[in-house]
Amino acid sequence: MEFSKAFKGREQDIIELFTATFTASEGAEEGALIGDLVRHQMASTAEPDLYVFIAEADGMIVGGAVFSQLAYDQDDRTVFVLAPVAVSTELQGKGIGQKLLMHALQTLRDAGVDIVLTYGDPSYYSRIGFAPITEALAPAPFKLQHPEGWLGQSLTDDEITPLEGKSRCVEALNDPVFW
Ligand SMILES: CC(C)(COP(=O)(O)OP(=O)(O)OC[C@H]1O[C@@H](n2cnc3c(N)ncnc32)[C@H](O)[C@@H]1OP(=O)(O)O)[C@@H](O)C(=O)NCCC(=O)NCCS
Repeated sequence: MEFSKAFKGREQDIIELFTATFTASEGAEEGALIGDLVRHQMASTAEPDLYVFIAEADGMIVGGAVFSQLAYDQDDRTVFVLAPVAVSTELQGKGIGQKLLMHALQTLRDAGVDIVLTYGDPSYYSRIGFAPITEALAPAPFKLQHPEGWLGQSLTDDEITPLEGKSRCVEALNDPVFW
């Protein structure tokens, strides 16, 4: 298994991975929504604001994780949000997701990212260092439909203190349907 952030030229395979994985787990409508989200993220996000990590086995993309910048207008810290992540249905439960995300978090730490947020199942994301966080500590771009799924972790030695100002996500995530 190889992990990398070299996604350029692989966009179609990545979109297909997300579409198929979410179709299998959540149904065709969600599969199409998430596939389209990832297409939009890769097409419209400026390079420094986007990381797409892939897990590859025998030349096939079997996992993907997308991180995009969340800018706080009165805060100097660099914040990224993880969404979405997928591992091929037939290869789930073998640790690929956790290894891919640990690799991704280390790369972001090395790049100087201060904080990573995500929005998902705390029981899964706590395995890779995320803990519940409040909207007061880290304002989200939209009112969260499931605030119990708002999670964060510091990639530095500093604890997360309140992020100041309004948050602005990348254009592809700028839709309340994702929040
Ligand atoms: C969520 C996902 C990325 C995890 O990747 P993975 O490679 O299967 O996960 P790992 O093998 O690293 O970890 C597996 C463990 O996490 C648990 N787990 C997997 N998905 C979970 C979920 N959605 N919620 C809670 N726990 C989960 C498994 O039960 C397993 O537990 P065990 O080790 O005690 O048996 C993958 O299952 C997936 O693509 N699911 C469908 C899409 C999705 O829901 N994405 C996340 C939302 S953006």
